[in-house]
Amino acid sequence: KTIRMDATRIDKGGHKHFMAKEIAEQPHVIGEALNHYLTADGTGINVPESLPDFRGVERLVLVACGTAYYACVTAKYWFERIARLPVEVDIASEFRYREPPVTDGTVALFVSQSGETADTLAALRYCADKAAHVVSVVNVPESSIARESGTALPILAGVEVGVASTKAFTCQLTVLYLLALKAAQQRGHLDADALTDRLSALRSLPGILNHALAQDRSAKKVARKLAEADDILFLGRGLMYPLAMEGALKLKEISYIHAEAYASGELKHGPIALIDKRMPVVVMAPKDKLFDKTVSNMQEVMARGGKVTLITDEAGLDEAGDGVTNTLVMPTVPDDLAPILYAIPAQQLAYHTAIAKGTDVDQPRNLAKSVTVE
Ligand code: G6P
Repeated sequence: KTIRMDATRIDKGGHKHFMAKEIAEQPHVIGEALNHYLTADGTGINVPESLPDFRGVERLVLVACGTAYYACVTAKYWFERIARLPVEVDIASEFRYREPPVTDGTVALFVSQSGETADTLAALRYCADKAAHVVSVVNVPESSIARESGTALPILAGVEVGVASTKAFTCQLTVLYLLALKAAQQRGHLDADALTDRLSALRSLPGILNHALAQDRSAKKVARKLAEADDILFLGRGLMYPLAMEGALKLKEISYIHAEAYASGELKHGPIALIDKRMPVVVMAPKDKLFDKTVSNMQEVMARGGKVTLITDEAGLDEAGDGVTNTLVMPTVPDDLAPILYAIPAQQLAYHTAIAKGTDVDQPRNLAKSVTVE
């Protein structure tokens, strides 16, 4: 399969900004990635022959910067839970200077949209002669990171122009999830039926993402209120914790509003001191096993006058109780797929908040699409 990326052909396709176009493209590009990696009968995952069998792997190290780093944190949950593989995840600029021990039982995996991020490339070079194998998950197949990896897995997102990454993030998640499933299968933690079920759920994801995209107007309404805030707190638990971090990053990148994310369980260990009626709190919580715990954190916020925007599904909405200021209701998906789906409202909130503030959404101040210097 050839992957064409010619920036001169790219236009906004009727959208006001590249970011809006790239958000809207997600069902399509994720579908492309699935077509590339799933076998024709939909029951297996194709990976390049150069990829090692995960049976003999002792540890996986995931390294990246920015949004790609949050894709890695999400993947840690998948690899550990589904494939029972211990995972270390780190920011490239920390990893490269820490001189961490990397043994030959380790697979080192680098995630980068551009494939040219200086810190990520340096971390890769540090691992090149130490790890059993170097894998990269990249959008630009001819990039330095791709070329210097033992195996480069393309995410097939197409050219991403908006500085704030959107479709590359969800395509990274899709490829990392497939890789976690492959590892689980090889390590004997996922039988053929369970794999087929998971893959068929994944196949229906692009259609489900379209439903989330259709909630754009509700996200816009919430965003108008968020735009008045000076600080916004994002909360999530389990797989929603890395997504809360990505939601906060997206918002600060383009709206310049200070936002930070906490694991819901950490709320009482500090950030609860900040809660008042002026600080909106965005809670991302599908009705999963951890939902009740998140609801009690949410109640702690509301009891202190905090205004909550809850992003959940129908079942979550039924059980959330009173007092939530805004809700965005997502379709119901299997727990493991929720990060890919909930990325969409996180992106929409950031986008519309930035529009309400009148900032330059595609070219935010002080930021570069690709950071090739330290
Ligand atoms: C820059 C971009 C971010 C991106 C990060 C990592 O900071 O502004 O959007 O997530 O670099 O880039 P990469 O190309 O390695 O994914």
